[in-house]
Amino acid sequence: MIIIIIGPPGSGKGTVSERLAKEFGFFHLSPGELLREEVKKATIIGKEIQRYIEKGQLVPTHFVAEMLKLELKGKKKVVLDGFPRSLEQAESIQEIKIDRVINLDVSEKQVIERFAGRRICSKGTHGYHLQYLPPKKPGVCDEDGTLLVQRQDDKPEVIKQRFNVYHQESRPVLKYYQKKVQNVDAGKSPDEVYEQVKKILRL
Ligand code: AP5
Repeated sequence: MIIIIIGPPGSGKGTVSERLAKEFGFFHLSPGELLREEVKKATIIGKEIQRYIEKGQLVPTHFVAEMLKLELKGKKKVVLDGFPRSLEQAESIQEIKIDRVINLDVSEKQVIERFAGRRICSKGTHGYHLQYLPPKKPGVCDEDGTLLVQRQDDKPEVIKQRFNVYHQESRPVLKYYQKKVQNVDAGKSPDEVYEQVKKILRL
């Protein structure tokens, strides 16, 4: 089963995907996370990617799509968190059968306040929120024990640009998949959002 999770920045794509991976064994495929790993390695490609991420722009499709297809190979149960984000990207995977597309619907006003409290583990894999999804021990990841940090691209001016890109590039993807899209009210609590997603997926 291949599921796409779409939604604006901060809508909870990573949070829902992480839970599906943990509880049901989905392979959580997040281009954002893979790209940040590449940036950390400080390779020539990593430095090039960083230029896009720090401006809140999409990394060129040919690069992300190739990386994604390699990761997808041979996997049967996948949650795609943050891909496709443009019509070009959707077309680049048209040969892949997508089972469900879940749209996390939440207002911009509501997600903006989530960013100030967002923390991720130092490995960049697990996400938290100081108020809504706190770790058991303050400042430390429950899963891998690394220190929690803020994301480099969670600055107000970059967040604004990520929203612009979402409206211009990513919303048309919902139309592309219109027959498969199911909406979730992502303005609710993390547990309530997750319950809605499980219901849609009949899990
Ligand atoms: P990416 O990492 O995918 O960032 P994003 O889409 O902006 O989304 P976020 O990760 O910020 O938010 P999310 O929806 O996952 O929410 P989260 O669960 O963290 O991409 C970053 C960059 O990489 C892009 O700008 C681009 O440059 C590049 N990139 C990525 N994909 C690409 C692609 N396909 N093509 C080209 N370039 C690409 O939740 C946010 C916070 O809220 C957390 O603190 C969480 O704990 C909390 N929270 C979650 N749910 C709830 C809830 N229901 N109530 C209260 N708090 C909640």
